[in-house]
Amino acid sequence: MRLARKFLISVVAVAFVVMFLGVWAALSAERALHETDLARDHTLLGGALVHLLEHVPENGFATNARIVLSGTVGPDSQVTARLLFPDGITPTNESALLVKVLAENKPLIAARETGRGLYITLLPIQGRRAVLELSEPFAEQDRILTRTAVRYVIMSLALTLGFAIVTLVLGRRFIGGPMKLLVTQARAIGAGHLDEMSNLHQRDEIGDLAIELNQMSAKLRASEEQTRKESERRLAAVNQLRHADRLATVGTLASGIAHELGTPLAVVQGRATLIEEAVSDAEVIKSARVITEQVSRMSRILRQVLDFARRTTPSPQKATLLELVEKAVSLLQPISQKRGVAVEIRQKSRVSVLADANLIHQVFTNLIMNAIQATVGRAPTVFVEVAEQSLVPPVDLASESGTPGSPQKVGVVSIVDHGAGIAPELVAHVFEPFFTTKDVGEGTGLGLSVAWGIVRDHDGWIEVESRVNERTTFRVILPAAGG
Ligand SMILES: Nc1ncnc2c1ncn2[C@@H]1O[C@H](COP(=O)(O)OP(=O)(O)OP(=O)(O)O)[C@@H](O)[C@H]1O
Ligand SMILES: [Mg+2]
Repeated sequence: MRLARKFLISVVAVAFVVMFLGVWAALSAERALHETDLARDHTLLGGALVHLLEHVPENGFATNARIVLSGTVGPDSQVTARLLFPDGITPTNESALLVKVLAENKPLIAARETGRGLYITLLPIQGRRAVLELSEPFAEQDRILTRTAVRYVIMSLALTLGFAIVTLVLGRRFIGGPMKLLVTQARAIGAGHLDEMSNLHQRDEIGDLAIELNQMSAKLRASEEQTRKESERRLAAVNQLRHADRLATVGTLASGIAHELGTPLAVVQGRATLIEEAVSDAEVIKSARVITEQVSRMSRILRQVLDFARRTTPSPQKATLLELVEKAVSLLQPISQKRGVAVEIRQKSRVSVLADANLIHQVFTNLIMNAIQATVGRAPTVFVEVAEQSLVPPVDLASESGTPGSPQKVGVVSIVDHGAGIAPELVAHVFEPFFTTKDVGEGTGLGLSVAWGIVRDHDGWIEVESRVNERTTFRVILPAAGG
């Protein structure tokens, strides 16, 4: 049953009982008042009549007394007076009462005699063995009382109805309505809609409950957000570890193959050179040159593979990040100019890092080269920014350094281009060795994986953000050098 309805029933029931008792008490009081009045009237009238009758001579008392009575109490009066003589009548309850009144010489005032429907007063007359009876019907009085009772009951019902309406309206306004809102909100929270907030501003327990519910929603939302971030971080960490593992495996495999191919390639190149020198046929010389060129290319790729596989441990020294960036940009200047792309350093923080200049130079060269290649024919400029920031390292790095989750000072180099961009489904693969979208011979797909490994060896990390045909940003993040 609804709360407001329960209140309504309770209030109406209590009001009803209180009214009933009130009406009963009022009616009782009214009747008592009337009986007191009646007793006083009977006492006064009876006293006067008895006084008169006591002076009627004993001789012919009955007749004379009746004459006296008829002269004093007229037929119009409510009160009827008569003389009663206990002697000589058949003993009944009534005569016993008369005898008792006479014997005790004590009047009986305004007694209710239901049988005859009368109030009666019995007054002994001294020395005459007679009793004066005053009687008055109580039917009229009861009619008045009934009318009063009906008035009271109607008033009570009207009041109870008033209470009921007020309780219903207030109950709906302050209990029913707000509770419905809170139930809806609780259901929404249960269904995971934590943005649902109630707008109740009541200064009572229900208002308090609404505030608590809102706060609970907010806390749940915050903890859900935290859990989501945490699981994202964990997922990223797992991916990073998987990536590192894959790099190691591919590195071992690649170095094995490169090692095995190195010697045969050297032999092929040697022989091709010999042929080139030994023969005079122009066609053969041309073919031998092609072989030499292609073998050189294969050797270059093998060297890259070996570089990738045999990651040298960095020998870091304190360096200004901006200077490393400027060096890479100026070295790439001829290539970028040739391709019609400008490389502009537009933010120049002078943050210091601990870096192996040669290795980090390789990283920037790879990234800027990629940006130039993606930008050619699409945009005129590749932007580079150097900034100092405070960032939280990825989970796997943070746990290595033993300070999980706390932000640390870092130098950030962002390479921003407005070129082709990377499709969302490919972003996760760009750091994988040999992943390339470039034509055969144009890219080995090692640039980013090498860069990734070098930066990791510096306790840093690389982030990528890309929108196809809009903008790509690669961020190299290296811990800032303290002091
Ligand atoms: N700035 C960029 N814009 C668009 N795509 C990019 C960008 N940088 C990298 N990529 C994508 O990531 C792939 C891998 O890059 P990575 O540098 O590892 O290899 P590569 O450039 O293809 O070859 P390599 O660098 O070995 O010559 C690229 O083939 C390209 O598809
Ligand atoms: Mg590249």
